Amino acid sequence: MQHQYDYLILGSGAAGLSYALKVADHGSVCSITKKNRAESNTNYAQGGIASVVDENDSFEKHIQDTLIAGAGLCHEDVVRMVVEEGPAVIQELLQLGARFTSYNGRLDLGKEGGHSHERIVHAADTTGKEIERTLLQAAEAHPRITILEHHFAMEFITEHHLGQKVTRYDTNTHCFGVYVLDTQRYNVDKILAKTTLLATGGACQVYLHTTNPEIATGDGIAMAYRAKVRVSNMEFIQFHPTSLYAPGADSFLISEAVRGKGGILRNSKGEAFMASYDDRKDLAPRDIVARAIDDQLKKSGEECVFLDVTHIDKNVILEHFPNIYHTCSSYGIDITQEPIPVVPAAHYMCGGVVTDVHGRTSINGLFACGEVTHTRVHGANRLASNSLLEALVFSGRAAEKAVEYAKNTEINLEVPDWDDSGTVNNDEWILISHNKKELQQIMWDYVGIVRSDLRLERAFRRTKLLYEETEEFYTRTRVSVPLCELRNLIGVAYIIIKSAMKRKESRGLHYTTDYPETLDSERKDTVI
Ligand code: FAD
Ligand code: SIN
Repeated sequence: MQHQYDYLILGSGAAGLSYALKVADHGSVCSITKKNRAESNTNYAQGGIASVVDENDSFEKHIQDTLIAGAGLCHEDVVRMVVEEGPAVIQELLQLGARFTSYNGRLDLGKEGGHSHERIVHAADTTGKEIERTLLQAAEAHPRITILEHHFAMEFITEHHLGQKVTRYDTNTHCFGVYVLDTQRYNVDKILAKTTLLATGGACQVYLHTTNPEIATGDGIAMAYRAKVRVSNMEFIQFHPTSLYAPGADSFLISEAVRGKGGILRNSKGEAFMASYDDRKDLAPRDIVARAIDDQLKKSGEECVFLDVTHIDKNVILEHFPNIYHTCSSYGIDITQEPIPVVPAAHYMCGGVVTDVHGRTSINGLFACGEVTHTRVHGANRLASNSLLEALVFSGRAAEKAVEYAKNTEINLEVPDWDDSGTVNNDEWILISHNKKELQQIMWDYVGIVRSDLRLERAFRRTKLLYEETEEFYTRTRVSVPLCELRNLIGVAYIIIKSAMKRKESRGLHYTTDYPETLDSERKDTVI
């Protein structure tokens, strides 16, 4: 089946939905999403959106905090733009009906690591759910927006599918839409569009322990890489210092806002250890806190550290962190009475598909925004709660340019159907789940918080083997979501490992024992 729209959007998180609302007045819009419409990293965001709202705060302070966290790799002009456009995106969300926590008509502002001022706009500790609800409700009410759930984007349609081989990065390449697997009809369809927005989010499912939901398999990055779109800075994977360590808890996040309210990290002896790593103690940027915890665990041989909030008034906990309180209670932990066992977990991808300040990628007609991108805002380590901000600012900027692009574009193409000749339904599904587990373990063991040449080489060799096995399986097997996701995860792992191998220094989130210093000569983006 072939569909055609003016604006095609891959993903229904904050980035995709806010863009949809902006382009919908200019043409037909189709947003595809691989599971149900709300399932996204956005939906799980806790802390909030960083923005200068308080009169005693300033753009300059937010910019400086972002640059410091980013360890010399943020591009200051882009950071300035995002920070200065922040208050407007908060207003837009409020106008759409977002119910953020406020007292006496004033937004309540939280604090997180690396921020020199209270500036996190939030809806208690379920900010993402409130943003997703607000944007979805508005999109569902718009007559020109079609949301197709259970549609899995597989490959971009480019000149490559029209018989001209695209074997390398080429700025004359165009994106005409995607091949998409309808997972309910089990059919591969073609969706053609004048413009396509990539907003498929992150990839932290490539690690064994992650705060990300199962959808975060880096499909967008892998698709982009296969289509020869420029990707960069993928070595900078952010590990959140505090995910819940409890049997069955599946790396549930304990928001950094908890430390912003006075939570203290302690080891099993009860020592508040952060003071010996950084003057900012528990509110140091995330890379520093995660490494400190890693160091504590390696020294003690223990499995977790503890986040202590027992000294904070119970009413404050219940009011600000109801979700965290109730989730911990469901695992038998009363956080007002006992410290919370926590460990770091893979959380956010700072690199991604390279875009300019208008969300344009290196191929024509393909725009991108949100976690899938590298816009040059986050540098070597993202400042807490700057991600939703970046996604919302860039979705507006991408929408403006996509509307211009669509006005000057006609799509009138014969695109071949998906070629599945020679493939069969295979019953060796165990290979997929085993290879996925193995990949996640390799990435966790060798490409984690502390790296070395030896570990990266080991990861590379093992991943190559998984790649060969999976490609061979793929060529003879009918496509399915688990198989495509595995293939994509292997692709993402390869890019992370290659990028990490290229960086011969330690900076921000990339720490290697072979090159512990930060070097001026290495102060550049890693482009793949
Ligand atoms: P997502 O919200 O992840 O949306 C991606 C969409 O793409 C989903 O709809 C998904 O189903 C779809 N998709 C993916 N692959 C395909 C495919 N192949 N085909 C079709 N559809 C596909 N950031 C902050 O700024 N503040 C916070 O407080 C905060 N807290 C967080 C807490 C948690 C637990 C997590 C996991 C992240 C948090 N982050 C936070 C990060 C932030 O939530 C994300 O970076 C941001 O929401 C990304 O938005 P997005 O629209 O780019 O991607
Ligand atoms: C958190 O609430 O700690 C997550 C914030 C973020 O990832 O920016």
